[in-house]
Amino acid sequence: MDLGIKGRRAIVCASSRGLGRGTAEALAEAGVALTLNGRTADTLEETAENIRSRYGVEVKTVVCDVTTDEGRAALLRAEPNPDILINNAGGPPPGVWSDWGREEWEKAINSNMLTPILLATAVLPGMIQREWGRVVSITSGSVKAPIPQLGLSNSSRAGLTGFVAGTARQVAKHGVIMNNILPGQHDTDRVKSLMDSISKRENISVEDARARAQAANPRGRFGTAEEFGKIAAFLCSEHVGFMIGQNVLVDGGAFNSTMG
Ligand SMILES: NC(=O)c1ccc[n+]([C@@H]2O[C@H](COP(=O)([O-])OP(=O)(O)OC[C@H]3O[C@@H](n4cnc5c(N)ncnc54)[C@H](OP(=O)(O)O)[C@@H]3O)[C@@H](O)[C@H]2O)c1
Repeated sequence: MDLGIKGRRAIVCASSRGLGRGTAEALAEAGVALTLNGRTADTLEETAENIRSRYGVEVKTVVCDVTTDEGRAALLRAEPNPDILINNAGGPPPGVWSDWGREEWEKAINSNMLTPILLATAVLPGMIQREWGRVVSITSGSVKAPIPQLGLSNSSRAGLTGFVAGTARQVAKHGVIMNNILPGQHDTDRVKSLMDSISKRENISVEDARARAQAANPRGRFGTAEEFGKIAAFLCSEHVGFMIGQNVLVDGGAFNSTMG
């Protein structure tokens, strides 16, 4: 399917690895010019070069922490008029409710709620003026079904979801489409570190933790960054003009419900 976005320009936050990279690759395949981001220069440059050589699109890189004011300003200097914004950042650490005080909460809320809200707020006026835009925020399945050890994620991402729900309905008439994509367990470095933490906490091997998590999924496996990225890119396509403020779960059926 032609996504109809060839020549569009995208900022893809936190995209040197994992789900951000999967999304960047699918956008590049659709002919979108990219501004990629990560905190580690080598990994970011390697990813950018790989995407340039495979898809022949323009790829800029911005080495920065997207959760800082300076980082977001640098991204917007590199790409002041994006047609597409993919909101993404690292996820908060696991733990239990009694581990988290003001400092931990402020960090999680800054990374997974305020950062995407502030970036969207910065790019929406230009999108509205140009009468075309796509803002896709990578959140988590934990927004629909809480993951007890990821309370910082459950809560901060729920706040972002509330912002998108209302704002998507305010900007839709200008051709600006906002939706969220909710990963279940995908085989990225993030899931590797979560499996390490389960292995330590429960005194089982990492292999056993992985096997158990995969067996519990109706698909019998983890998702891949590639298949996730294709769905995220579809949410940036011409074809989603009547799809507003949705939360698209990509979890292999892990969320058990008849509807919604
Ligand atoms: N994978 C899953 O199964 C899953 C499930 C639910 C939710 N999620 C959420 O989806 C998001 C992406 O997950 P992932 O699995 O793709 O993680 P990942 O494999 O660990 O990759 C994270 C990417 O983001 C970059 N990054 C992290 N923090 C950043 C920051 N502050 N500023 C700029 N770049 C940053 C990393 O590069 P540098 O380290 O070099 O900065 C890397 O490119 C996370 O918020 C995660 O919690 C993932």
